[in-house]
Amino acid sequence: MRPTSLRYLSVLIGFSLLLGTGSARAADAPFVVTLPTVVDTMLKMGQVGASDFLIDLGSGDGRIVIAAAKQHGARGYGVELDPNLVLTARREAQRQGVADRVMFEAENLFNIDIGKASIITLYIGESVNMRLRPALLKLKPSTRIVSHDFDLGNWMPDEKMTISVPNKPYGPPRSDIMLWVVPADFSGTWTWTLPVAGADASHEARFEQAFQKLEGSGRVAARQAAIGSPQIRGDSIRFVMGADVAGKAAWREFEGRISGDSITGTSALLADGGKAILKDTSVPWRATRTARGKWVTDSPPATFEPGAR
Ligand SMILES: C[S@@+](CC[C@H](N)C(=O)[O-])C[C@H]1O[C@@H](n2cnc3c(N)ncnc32)[C@H](O)[C@@H]1O
Repeated sequence: MRPTSLRYLSVLIGFSLLLGTGSARAADAPFVVTLPTVVDTMLKMGQVGASDFLIDLGSGDGRIVIAAAKQHGARGYGVELDPNLVLTARREAQRQGVADRVMFEAENLFNIDIGKASIITLYIGESVNMRLRPALLKLKPSTRIVSHDFDLGNWMPDEKMTISVPNKPYGPPRSDIMLWVVPADFSGTWTWTLPVAGADASHEARFEQAFQKLEGSGRVAARQAAIGSPQIRGDSIRFVMGADVAGKAAWREFEGRISGDSITGTSALLADGGKAILKDTSVPWRATRTARGKWVTDSPPATFEPGAR
């Protein structure tokens, strides 16, 4: 069992008990509010801004959507099964002067199109999160997901914070707030040409990807090359690549953004001919995907590490 699982289990059992068994269209989670300090932290972690469209799945009294509009100028949409809570949310949006930027609808969250969201917020329980996960992974790369207390299984968050919430209405007096940035699919073989030791050299990088984790290996001028610290954030990638050229190390750093089968960005020399490069050596970098890889987004065993298969 994962270290945080016991805590989730107790919150989950409590959520289930609160739900009861006899409701008409069974809600997938009970109505429990997220307190303002947690709402603030969620919106800050998601870097919500005026250009965002936030969707809260199971919006309760609308507080997250309303705060996103009022404090950050975002537009928002809340979907909620309970029509009385939807009325409460609409009234509150009027009262707080943001009714022109937010919308609330009485609907099952599994029936709506989440594709227009630039950020999704959740406080709905682990089993709903897991049912939503395939759809969340299909969202446009760089879409943010912020969840209160419940994770997305073995899709690890990009950021996580625990804050003390002494007057929390439910569960232990603290909240976990987690952020995921939907990754693009970088898996496969990428090629490009850049100078090494004064001469143009062909480069090749092969990436395996599980969720947003990458593992890579490569070749520079037909020699084996090491790839270090590959990182994805949404549609952006960053890694270093090094090869031994005539017995001396040549290392480059790469940063770029993906669009289809192209990455466009910059590359800087970190070391050439064994000597560290201190001046700015950034040059444009453009890589092309010559073969697709497998992007693992299902539930491999907990021991799975990219590249270990
Ligand atoms: C824990 S509350 C969170 C409310 C609000 N998002 C917040 O953080 O304050 C979960 C809400 O989801 C609603 N809900 C549960 N299942 C749902 C479903 N399938 N579709 C839409 N709403 C649902 C519940 O009625 C409840 O109001």
